[in-house]
Order: sequence, then structure tokens, then C-alpha cells
Amino acid sequence: MYKILSKSEIVPNVHKLVLEAPDIAEKAKPGQFVILMIDETGERLPFTLSDWDAKNGTITIYFLEVGLSTMDLVRFKGEELSAVIGPLGKPTPIDKFGTVVLGGGCYGVGGIYPIAKAMKEAGNTVITLIEARSSYLLYNEEGLRRVSDRFIVATEDGTKGEKGKVHDVIENLIQEESIDRAYFIGCTFMMMNCLNKTKTHDITTFVALNPIMVDGTGMCGCCRCSVDGKTKFACVDGPIFEAKEVDWDQLFKRNAAYSQQEAIIYQFHSCESEGV
Ligand code: FES
Repeated sequence: MYKILSKSEIVPNVHKLVLEAPDIAEKAKPGQFVILMIDETGERLPFTLSDWDAKNGTITIYFLEVGLSTMDLVRFKGEELSAVIGPLGKPTPIDKFGTVVLGGGCYGVGGIYPIAKAMKEAGNTVITLIEARSSYLLYNEEGLRRVSDRFIVATEDGTKGEKGKVHDVIENLIQEESIDRAYFIGCTFMMMNCLNKTKTHDITTFVALNPIMVDGTGMCGCCRCSVDGKTKFACVDGPIFEAKEVDWDQLFKRNAAYSQQEAIIYQFHSCESEGV
């Protein structure tokens, strides 16, 4: 069993979860993820590791309530989770590349932090960009600013920082800076839009893919995706891949395979738990 040290909604629909998981905290590397199970019959939920503390034996993740199982996690009142499996996936290679841009949206604002921190420690010039619909939805600014040489916020309504999204901001940034590498974590659209900007300038770009996962160990085939024309399993071969090699059409189609069923069951249980 894994103790929940804290669980809170830090901005509307973004939840921060801190768990006692010393074995994972000791081995975690930037770019890796964990799978959580609320109870032994619950869904296996993959989440990007957003931080860890090997000394205190804790890990931190940020997640959004997007379906039935994340709703269950938000409403879970117990003190322990049945399982926390990880660290999973291949760590992102960290080296001195020069100027590195990190872009995060929704859960990726949390997920981008370990890579930004490691890149800064490796001697890179780190430029971090985050996006939200409005200023009241921004989070993790303090931590990201600390590990960045330049920190840029973008809001769709223009209430803080630049008006627009990360892919709008990066357009201007490319004119101002010589960028050696870029990493994006967020929803599939956000990552693809960012790639569309960086690839026209030949900037080596990486993204953390988020396909449907079940076991997280390369056995079920659920997270299958096509990268550079080859079949890859995001859970063991990724989740971080070079963005220009990803078959984005296939990724969108596979991610939408159960969206209708997911929406129906989520709506049904949301209404049920609210007594409608
Ligand atoms: S989640 Fe099953 S193979 Fe990746």
C-alpha cells in the first residue's frame, strides 16, 4: 500500500498528489511515469512523474479529472493507494545541448519540470513556456521559474503573460533565440501544434506521447504507436519520442477509440454521484 501524503485541487480541475513511494523516488529519472491503482480491481492510471524527493521518499504528480477513474481518484477518501508501479518508461537523455526549450500545457505544466531541472543542472540555457486558458488556471510557476533562464507564460484570454498558446509564443521565440532542442508535454493537439512550428526551423523536438495504456510493461500492446515507420510501445520504448517521427494521425485515431464509451460512463457516474 502507498500512503497519500497530500491530495488537493491546486487550480480548477488540476490536482496535485504527493505519495510516499521511496523505491520509486530513489530510482526516478526525468521523462518517466508511474501507474496508480486506487484498489486492486481499479483501472491502472498512468501519470507523468512531476517531481520526487529521494531523501524523503516521496513522488509528486499532477492530474486532471478527465474521466471515470480520475474522478474516482479525486473523490477517493482513503489514506492509501493499492498500487503505485514505477518508475516506468525510458528516461530522457540529459546532456549539455545548448539552449533547450520546454513547453507544457495542462498536466504537462507539471510534467515538464523534471526535464527543465535536469537540463538546467546539465548546464543548458533553459527557456520554459507554459500555457493555460486564463491566469487563474496557471500553476507550478514558482518551481519552473527557479529552474529556467527565461520563463514565459501564455494565456488564451491574455490575462497573464503573452496572449495565445505555447505554439504561438514559440513562433516569436524562434526569431529571438537560437534553439538547439525542444521538449513538449501536454495534450496531443498541443504537442503536434508545437512540432508544426519547430519543424519548419529544423529544431530537434521531442514529445511525451500519451496513448491509452493498460499494463505499462510492453505486454498488452495497448499503447502501440508508429514512430519512424516502426511499431513502438510508448510505455517501454517511450514515452518520449522524436516528434517529427511520430505518426500523429494514427495516434489521434487510437486515442479516440473509446472516447464515446468513456464520455457516456463518465457522465453517467458524475450524475449518479451528484444524485441527479
Ligand atoms: S501499456 Fe501495454 S504495451 Fe504499453
